Amino acid sequence: MQLSSQSIMKHKPTDTSRRNFLKTATLGSLALVGSTSLLSTLAGCGEDNPTSPRTGERVEVNLNENGFEALREVGGILRRNFGSNRNRGKDVIIRRTAQTEFRAVSVVCPHAQCDIGTPNQNSVTCPCHQSMFSMQAGNFGARLSGPAPRGLDSFETAFNAETQILTITF
Ligand code: FES
Repeated sequence: MQLSSQSIMKHKPTDTSRRNFLKTATLGSLALVGSTSLLSTLAGCGEDNPTSPRTGERVEVNLNENGFEALREVGGILRRNFGSNRNRGKDVIIRRTAQTEFRAVSVVCPHAQCDIGTPNQNSVTCPCHQSMFSMQAGNFGARLSGPAPRGLDSFETAFNAETQILTITF
């Protein structure tokens, strides 16, 4: 079946994009001044220390299948495990933020790697030291309070409205 490019909506994690931009800009500036020691120090920060390592592995889920009912409506949230090779076997929380847009984040708290609790429409709390993260569409996964150094790790999503297949890249 031919699919129009407009029917496939992709979402790349904004935190990662921002980090990549900042890292690129910072590394470029440092290269100009030749400060190699500072360069290696900064290279060890941020995305290089993820709680949820990137594997590039993709999972496709058909939202018409049983178990994905929560994601058929905008605003729906689903907590799901996709196996040992994805997110180190830890759960993922997915939210449908618009008709063709989804967000996916890891349940692994970036503070001390506890699993966060059960999300509601607005937020989710880590039971270990009470870091709180947003579950709202505009800043899904962002840190709201507590000792966590950043928001929850997010994964790229893409949705095909014709086939109703959601792809998550780990
Ligand atoms: S491990 Fe989550 S707040 Fe400490």
